[in-house]
Amino acid sequence: MGNHIEGKVVVITGASSGLGEAAARLLSAQGAAVVLGARRVERLQALADELAAKGGRALVMETDVTDRAQVKRLVDAAVEQFGRVDVVINNAGLMPQSLLEALKVDEWDRMIDVNIKGVLYGIAAALPHMQRQRGGHIINVSSVAGHKVGPGSAVYAATKHAVRALSEGLRQEVKPHNIRTTVISPGAVATELPNTITDAGVAARVNQLYADVAIPADSFARAVAFAIAQPEDVDINEILFRPTRQEY
Ligand SMILES: NC(=O)c1ccc[n+]([C@@H]2O[C@H](COP(=O)([O-])OP(=O)(O)OC[C@H]3O[C@@H](n4cnc5c(N)ncnc54)[C@H](OP(=O)(O)O)[C@@H]3O)[C@@H](O)[C@H]2O)c1
Repeated sequence: MGNHIEGKVVVITGASSGLGEAAARLLSAQGAAVVLGARRVERLQALADELAAKGGRALVMETDVTDRAQVKRLVDAAVEQFGRVDVVINNAGLMPQSLLEALKVDEWDRMIDVNIKGVLYGIAAALPHMQRQRGGHIINVSSVAGHKVGPGSAVYAATKHAVRALSEGLRQEVKPHNIRTTVISPGAVATELPNTITDAGVAARVNQLYADVAIPADSFARAVAFAIAQPEDVDINEILFRPTRQEY
């Protein structure tokens, strides 16, 4: 394991596009076996085929992270197929921002279910394996919105603040089990994320911001690889990065 990535088994939720897909590509290129979860299984399969064609090892599992049993099945499949699980990246998320007064309560529920409960289900699925292995690495994806709140982002920011709180609590609790924890908070990265916004005014503002400053998704992939690639006694707990041109 010269680069500390080669040979590791990495589970990624939300691997069908954006940040998760970019992380899968880079980690596979560096020798990891990747286990890809999301709902759009045909996109996962196309990615797995691409990685396999380059000599990578990839397993695809249709996964809705709002369903605890499906997240457990995803992580268990990694262990069944590859013998262990070294890293779980709880990345799946959505960002349908709107003003609270618009009362898009179904979207609030959805963000809580995917962005918070989905992360918790990933932690629940990973911990028993990692405790038994006496090692592992859980990487949770927060956001600049896990540090700052603005009009229209109250619920999304609340979910991303929750991810940071969970990650800090997890960090303290899993020390005795030799498990590493990292929370990564990206700024604007060019993905499909703004497509989840249904409020026309907010969508226009966010799309303009992304058009002006967003950086490619391999920025996130490199941050993930940096955290994983550290020697096992080095635990990178937090990474916050933005496009150089992003003020917010
Ligand atoms: N892009 C940014 O600027 C940015 C900044 C900060 C944080 N983030 C965070 O980064 C993470 C990834 O987002 P992205 O930017 O890569 O957006 P994206 O391109 O829209 O990707 C979102 C991913 O999440 C998956 N997903 C959504 N709901 C799911 C569910 N119920 N079950 C399983 N998978 C689900 C999607 O897959 P399916 O639809 O196929 O299920 C997709 O693979 C999110 O947590 C987001 O909040 C992004």
